[in-house]
Amino acid sequence: MGVRTQEGTTTVAQATANGLRGAERVDFILHRMTTAEKLGQLNQMAGGQQIALNSRITDVERDRVRAGGVGSYLHVAGAAFLGDLQHVAVEESHHGIPLLFAMDVVHGYRTIFPVPLGIAATFDVSDAELAARVAALEASAAGLHWTFAPMVDIARDARWGRIVEGAGEEPFFGSAMARAQVRGYQDRDLKRPDTIIATAKHFGAYGAGVGGRDYDSADISERTLMDVYLPPFLAAAEEGAASFMVAFNDIGGVPTTANKALVNDLLRGEWGYDGLVVSDWNSVPELLNHGVAETRTEAGALALLASVDMEMTSGIYASDMLKAVEASPALQAALDAATKRVLMAKDRLGLFDAPYSYHDPVREAAAMLTPDHRAAARRVAERSMVLLRNDSGRLPLKPQPGKVAVIGALAADARSMIGSWKAQGREEDVVTVVEALRNRLGEEFVVYEPGVGTRDVADPAAIAKAVATAEAADVVILVTGEDYNMSGEARSRSDIGLPSPQKVLAKAVLATGKPVVTVLMTGRPLDISPLDSGDSSILLAWFPGVEAGPAITNVLFGDAVPAGRLPASFPHRTGQVPYFIGHNPTGRPADADLSKDSARYMDIPITPAYAFGHGLSYATFEYGNLQLSSSTLAPGDSVSIGVDVTNTSGTNADEVVQLYTRDPVAQVARPQQELRGFARVRIDAGKTKHVTFTLRPEHFAYFAPYGRFETDAGRIDFGIGAGSDDIRLTGSFQVAGPVIADGPAAAMATPVSISEE
Ligand code: NOJ
Repeated sequence: MGVRTQEGTTTVAQATANGLRGAERVDFILHRMTTAEKLGQLNQMAGGQQIALNSRITDVERDRVRAGGVGSYLHVAGAAFLGDLQHVAVEESHHGIPLLFAMDVVHGYRTIFPVPLGIAATFDVSDAELAARVAALEASAAGLHWTFAPMVDIARDARWGRIVEGAGEEPFFGSAMARAQVRGYQDRDLKRPDTIIATAKHFGAYGAGVGGRDYDSADISERTLMDVYLPPFLAAAEEGAASFMVAFNDIGGVPTTANKALVNDLLRGEWGYDGLVVSDWNSVPELLNHGVAETRTEAGALALLASVDMEMTSGIYASDMLKAVEASPALQAALDAATKRVLMAKDRLGLFDAPYSYHDPVREAAAMLTPDHRAAARRVAERSMVLLRNDSGRLPLKPQPGKVAVIGALAADARSMIGSWKAQGREEDVVTVVEALRNRLGEEFVVYEPGVGTRDVADPAAIAKAVATAEAADVVILVTGEDYNMSGEARSRSDIGLPSPQKVLAKAVLATGKPVVTVLMTGRPLDISPLDSGDSSILLAWFPGVEAGPAITNVLFGDAVPAGRLPASFPHRTGQVPYFIGHNPTGRPADADLSKDSARYMDIPITPAYAFGHGLSYATFEYGNLQLSSSTLAPGDSVSIGVDVTNTSGTNADEVVQLYTRDPVAQVARPQQELRGFARVRIDAGKTKHVTFTLRPEHFAYFAPYGRFETDAGRIDFGIGAGSDDIRLTGSFQVAGPVIADGPAAAMATPVSISEE
């Protein structure tokens, strides 16, 4: 037993015995803590790496816990292991404050779902919520309280490797996905031991790094920050995300870890956010590298004053701040506020009353990779797939397609199928494409030939073997793209073409003239020009998770009909990035006419290869009967836009109905297309559904001159269709008067109703 209070009991136990709860109990504890103990609560230590989980939790760490020198561990897991550690904190430390256990549970804990960009491609918030919910069920059973997800950074530059971790380029869409994931992890009740704290990261413009390089500076206008990068964070805060993580990078020279104006004044002040803000890994000492602090203590002071509560791994708060805090009333106040927020996070989880509720090994054993979880992962994977093109209708494949050649090393690459951030996902849990095809068609009908890997030098003999295999088959399934380790943190690429060996293989296989169906695996938009022969069938599968093989096979054979949509545009060439649908018009609007001097490249079209919202189906849909409830939208009022969508094919399928708007004349140039509503709707063959979106004047509010969010009076144009590049019906209405809004339109949700005709 460690040190006890004089009464022989811990401070937490005393507070609880006194009948104190919530903020009162936290204040009771806080007032009995020394400065060093408060700093200890702000200290988050790494418990291990994924290879050797918990490996750093030695006796030294247990002593640190006993001494109150740590508030949280990350990269730890295991109900029994963490339960033991929690006992040390609760029973052997002076105050008895429980620890918070955290991990990057990003797209599943043991049951791995598609990578987040793939989950976003479902264009269905309920799929995003489901994936997060399953992840929370498993992670919480493994003793974890807190995940560093969702990443809600808007990513407009596909060179950036971390585009894979988010919901892509569009802020309204990103806000919807952010809210859904927060709901999935927290389920609106953090006291339940099967929910975990969600973290909106990386506040506020990590995705805007110059050149698409990771960690690099964002040099963006205040308007772009407010209207594009911050809305998903605001949406996550409004949804109750109990934690935020600040970004590594700087905005206009101010690293976010030291950005008082952004974190303390805007997030805490204007948004009223009282959750827990954590630094990123080592981002406090990196303030020295940024050149805004000279010493570790200075760096710690900047972060603390910016209201970064907890420091991830680098220990400056715990080791370098004692004297500085004791000498500074401002730092003391910041420390008290930060400590209180750490304690409140523990309180929100119910840990002061039930510190071991996450540490039940029986529950843990039963929770992992259950048939239900696998089924959910398969469902989301199927729904994440995007049919990029299907020129001569080669997909879906016939039930008995004859001899199938599966070409490409990715077809059997279990590790790639689970993507980056695998938490406790295991390769042996994955059903690969080759396995699933063999299970479905029988061994004798499926011949697999890897050809070449994603990074190997193409061996002419191996390529020739792949070609011969293709030539001897009735149908070829070419599985190509990036491997899992080409996107993710520190995985930016200067050339986002297919990896060169894959280009060699793809060209050789396509040149056979055999019917080829391409399955594309990637964590980012790519320049896929070698695959675009003009008669191609390309199914974008992302990195689909443990059920990769069955999900891909189900879509290829039409048991599941693809309806995923692109959350980020695919460029023709790397040089076209950053490309996004929401850019402003110029004084020289670009169009298809090359003879004009306009804002386009000479050598490629102005449009991308595949635009945001693009995705085909095996079914066909018609849009009609556009109904606008009113041609004017007055302040305080709403307008509804309804449309009939009819499945004109013989195939039951989903359609993703999308609403885009544009403000053609405003105080400043406004984006050419902004998503303002979307709904993935099941429509059976021959049936019609009526989809209605309801908009208010605030849905057009932007960061106007003088720093207010305003909607201008005047016309709003809208288009409804199956993609930003496939608008079927258009209209307009007048906003009858200017409106001052509370925030950016992109953070808002749009009510959608769906009825049978
Ligand atoms: C660094 C990453 O930027 C962040 O997203 C992650 O949560 C932490 N490492 C912890 O692994």
